[in-house]
Amino acid sequence: MAAAKWISSVALTAALAIAGGKPAIADDCNVEHGAEVAKRCVACHAIDIDAISKVGPPLIGVVGRQAASYPDFKYSRALRAITTTWTAEELDQFLAAPQKYVRGTSMAFAGLRKEEERADLICFLQTLNAATTDK
Ligand code: HEC
Repeated sequence: MAAAKWISSVALTAALAIAGGKPAIADDCNVEHGAEVAKRCVACHAIDIDAISKVGPPLIGVVGRQAASYPDFKYSRALRAITTTWTAEELDQFLAAPQKYVRGTSMAFAGLRKEEERADLICFLQTLNAATTDK
């Protein structure tokens, strides 16, 4: 299949884009690497189609979703107070340092310091969105 080749070529593009100091853009990334990074989230977040709330809300569909809007999930007061829509850019900032971005969040995760990890992870999260609309 052409997919593997496509993935390695976009990974290269992503590396170049990051080296050039451009913001992480969804199309330029390594989805496979993003799926690896997402393993750090699954203790607390469902990433599959069943979309059940665990310690945190499901991440399927989170890109483009209004913050703190997953039905029936008990968000912290801090997260409910923000009016962000989770665009790739906002997610990038949040995931770099969750407690800094949303002071008082109940997400007990230190953050992903590497820009490349965040970019690839966000691309992976976007593929989850696509999976829901493909059905
Ligand atoms: C230790 C558990 C834990 C880990 C690990 C964790 N999260 Fe969370 N996450 C939470 C909790 C709890 C919330 C709800 C926070 C609140 O209400 O303040 C949350 C909220 C979020 C939100 C906001 C969702 C919304 O509906 O507004 C996003 C996005 C998110 N997490 C992404 C991630 C990603 C991506 C990872 C992996 C890199 C991750 N989280 C790792 C527990 C975790």
